[in-house]
Amino acid sequence: MKALNLIAAFVLCTLPAFAESVHIATPNTSMVLDATRGKHLKNIYYGSRLDDALASDVKALKSSGLSAMEAYPQYGLMNNREAAIGVIHADGSMTLDMIVDAVKESTDKKTGAKTVTVTLKDSYYPFTVDVNYRTYPALDVIETWTAITNGEKETVRLQQFDSGYLPVRRGDVWLSHLYGAQLNEGHLTHEPLTPGMKVIVNRDGIRNSHTAHSEIMLSLDGKPRETEGRVIGAALCYSGNYKLRIDTDQHAWHHVFAGIDPDNSEYILSPGETFVTPELALTYSTEGTGGASRNYHRWARNHKFAHADVPRKVLLNSWEGVYFNIDEDGMTRMIKDMADLGGELFVMDDGWFGDKYPRNNSKGSLGDWVVDTRKLPHGIQGLIDTAKANGIEFGIWIEPEMTNVQSELYEKHPDWVLKPLNHKTVYGRGGGQMILDLANPEVQEHVFTIVDTLLTKYPGIDYIKWDANMAVRNHGSQYLAPDRQSHLYIEYHKGLRKVLERIRAKYPDVTIQNCASGGGRANYGLMPYFDEFWVSDNTDAKQRVWLQWGDSYFFPPTLMASHISASPDHHSYRFAPMKYRIDVAMSGRLGVEMQPVQMTPEERKMVRNAIAEYKQYVRPVLIDGDIYRLLAPEEGHNAASLMYVTPQKDRAVFYWWKLEQYQNQHAPRVRMAGLDPKRKYVIRELNRIDSKPLSFEGKAFSGKFLMDNGLEIPYGYNVPKDDRNDFGSRVLYLEAQ
Ligand code: GLA
Repeated sequence: MKALNLIAAFVLCTLPAFAESVHIATPNTSMVLDATRGKHLKNIYYGSRLDDALASDVKALKSSGLSAMEAYPQYGLMNNREAAIGVIHADGSMTLDMIVDAVKESTDKKTGAKTVTVTLKDSYYPFTVDVNYRTYPALDVIETWTAITNGEKETVRLQQFDSGYLPVRRGDVWLSHLYGAQLNEGHLTHEPLTPGMKVIVNRDGIRNSHTAHSEIMLSLDGKPRETEGRVIGAALCYSGNYKLRIDTDQHAWHHVFAGIDPDNSEYILSPGETFVTPELALTYSTEGTGGASRNYHRWARNHKFAHADVPRKVLLNSWEGVYFNIDEDGMTRMIKDMADLGGELFVMDDGWFGDKYPRNNSKGSLGDWVVDTRKLPHGIQGLIDTAKANGIEFGIWIEPEMTNVQSELYEKHPDWVLKPLNHKTVYGRGGGQMILDLANPEVQEHVFTIVDTLLTKYPGIDYIKWDANMAVRNHGSQYLAPDRQSHLYIEYHKGLRKVLERIRAKYPDVTIQNCASGGGRANYGLMPYFDEFWVSDNTDAKQRVWLQWGDSYFFPPTLMASHISASPDHHSYRFAPMKYRIDVAMSGRLGVEMQPVQMTPEERKMVRNAIAEYKQYVRPVLIDGDIYRLLAPEEGHNAASLMYVTPQKDRAVFYWWKLEQYQNQHAPRVRMAGLDPKRKYVIRELNRIDSKPLSFEGKAFSGKFLMDNGLEIPYGYNVPKDDRNDFGSRVLYLEAQ
């Protein structure tokens, strides 16, 4: 990386001919804007770094004959195009004519981030939009967002208020994105962009990665390839409802828009008020989808989730082990088992609370966050003490944004829930779940207090699993004024972020998992307040290969909570041997999601060994390892494979999972990637079950050989016949000599 690239995140051109060109540069990418005062802001270029961007390259771009596109298209004067911003002024006019007024640059001393702000002003109304672009040292991501200010004397109604827009030249452009549902999250799909509008929308209100994710990749050179081709990534960092639109026009362009979903969310901007849109994080890579993923992972580790550099504790979560059947003996047993397995944390899931209404199922008690002493006579402190005595930490499940009809909280505060003003309420999980109205500051205070009370009363709580198990089914805030009901979704998420900010400020060291009916909140909107997300309630190892593969496009492995569960799996009913379950779970933040007493002595030994090897070999690589996806499950080669390599390229972990088994049907030999061709790497198999080591065990191979040829992975195991099954998987640890 050239020194120049590190310094020059922003330069305003001084050459008279291009006096208004703005170069937003990252180490390997450039975005060039034409910010001529008095004119509309134009996006001239986004792609590989143009070191000469301020002179001849810009001249060439300008003379290349293709008209530049507006950088933040507005509604009113070019109505035949999709717009990023549309308003209704107090006088009824629906027109905006936003022209460049000023360009500023600022630097955040703490992070070194540089922000370029281009202020656009309407040519008639006192209405401004600041279009912002933020870059960080050494990262190839540009965050863009806007701040929309109403300087008019009356309210302005925002109809469309995207975070950002990007013109993409037509060609053979393919879209990759994730969709899914509960138990089938992170499903990856690739499709060519064709004329018309492709819309990705989430209207859950609470969760944001069931249905469709807000992160996409565009492969500019045909079908997505993992190692080659130009790829643009766009990740909208928003926890509420969103809409991404790709409008492929009749000419030469795909127009990419992303922002808060304005449907049912018209925003009334009061005089003097500023509305700030969430960030849209753009990346560009010439190294295919893999390169774009690595860019996102690095950016995420540096700026988008908590404690990225702290090793994650290996935990046992009680849910699939006991479900709601919490009691002191059972919890104590699990704590001891986890300590015995070499784990570091025990998390007590749902079912521990409720006084008047005990939480024995999903029908009641949410909101009553008092320990049920009938189940836990020595309370939470008793369990914390037991955990400490066994040398591990203690964590707890809460769902603080919710309540039930059957709860003391709702009896006291029926005015604190979201419900329709004049119609019957539609309930969620268990037939009685409702969402607390986080638009209401009193409710924000209450939700903060729930967590604050738990953490001050029990400073021994090391980890919180924060759940959210309901969609906004009813439109109606009892707090918002009648003429602000359309602010519901937006105010809810503003309120939620305020609460989380306070929690993080007061309890910076607690680990918090982001869970929402499984992987419903895998999204960068809320991630800065969390340490990790629960990928899915589906813990079936085979399906997890797919789920985690999809999520790996945008999320680094330490963010993904991945647990060893029972066999047959509780959701798919599939049998999977312990070896396979371990080998899959080990590719994320390892945990256990089953009752250890149900493990056979042999399985127990395997899990104990896996936890030890994970801590020693895998975890240090996962912390900042770069991902290289080697063999995609969707390619239909009967196997999937990926690896993580440290930035220093001195250590790596390689995973191979068989997906199908037919006699004499073969998977390709997998070639590794990301290694230093000149160094030699010693191979060590982890989680070994074979009676004889693999032929390459303990041997050293050059990075070049491993990347050009790869190792021949045996499909089955050298084990007694009765122990054989149709599964196969390998985890290899590589260390440079
Ligand atoms: C959700 C979560 C589960 C579990 C249950 C508890 O479904 O995704 O992991 O915590 O709630 O009710």
